[in-house]
Amino acid sequence: MPAKTIAVLTSGGDSPGMNPAVRAVAKTAIRAGWRVFGISNGYQGIFDDEVMELTSRSLSGILDRGGTILQSSRCKQFMKPEGRTLALRKLREQHIDALVVIGGDGSLAGALELSRLDFPVIGIPGTIDNDINATEMGVGVDTASNTIVDLIDKVKDTARSHRRCFLIEIMGRNSGYLALTTAIASGAEVVVIPEYRYNMPRILDLLATRYRNRLNDSIILLAEGVCDADTFIQHMMREAGEQGLQQEVRKTVLGHVQRGGRPSHFDRLLASRMGELAVTALIQGETGSMVALSKGRLTLVDLERVCGGKKAMPSDLFRLARQLGIEFGDTVEV
Ligand code: F6P
Repeated sequence: MPAKTIAVLTSGGDSPGMNPAVRAVAKTAIRAGWRVFGISNGYQGIFDDEVMELTSRSLSGILDRGGTILQSSRCKQFMKPEGRTLALRKLREQHIDALVVIGGDGSLAGALELSRLDFPVIGIPGTIDNDINATEMGVGVDTASNTIVDLIDKVKDTARSHRRCFLIEIMGRNSGYLALTTAIASGAEVVVIPEYRYNMPRILDLLATRYRNRLNDSIILLAEGVCDADTFIQHMMREAGEQGLQQEVRKTVLGHVQRGGRPSHFDRLLASRMGELAVTALIQGETGSMVALSKGRLTLVDLERVCGGKKAMPSDLFRLARQLGIEFGDTVEV
């Protein structure tokens, strides 16, 4: 009987740790006697026949590399039912028996659709945003958080030197996780996140009081899911009215630098563990699930559940932020 074949793809925004996940998927499958194919450029690679066999040689030296050697995309064709039917045909033509999808919420929703078409598939959460339901962490969150804290520390150096307030825009399309946790870890004064309604008069009061007390290096973190930095500064100016802001406010948009870089120890380990479990589960006949981290242990969660709900921010983070005196808005969740 010919060896069974497993394929792996990375999709959506890349995240540090995708390579260790691909490596663990491939190594585990090869060890079990399966052939492994890497699909390039996310779901798009299925349509474009960008499929190559992964061997021990092609996996060498990827563990510590950021980004994804398989490359990634946000594939519009796969979002449509006709596209998915075509993709299924293409996978069968390539004699692929099962698929591991590494990516964020859109990519996992695609994986769910494939499993509904009876194609064996398991997902691995891979996004820096940490917005995937049913898992405490996704691959890449830890590295991105460390990068962000490092960059905030650098901005704080110059903020102190020049007695300036800085507004720093942080990634996280619909989630304030990165902004809130890095605010706690970097000692920012204000954090503006989509989960809470910000209170501009209170923010300006806080900045003014600090300024009067010669604490003139205030840091505001803004999650991009709320608005962009220019819009926020315009709102600050409007609220300040004719008297204007007492202090100079500069903006820094961290941008895609947050997604790059060598994966941290935590991400390499998490990605390796998730990759191994995804393949072991597929070989045992499991399908339609995602590998998740829950209370420090790996588990399999139904993709229906993952995609059917919104991840809630752990409430203790809000309590902690409040205890530490970080201004993050009104208590009504939006
Ligand atoms: O989902 C990860 C993420 O980095 C978000 O934080 C951000 O909004 C988005 O991707 C940016 O996507 P792109 O690189 O396609 O502009």
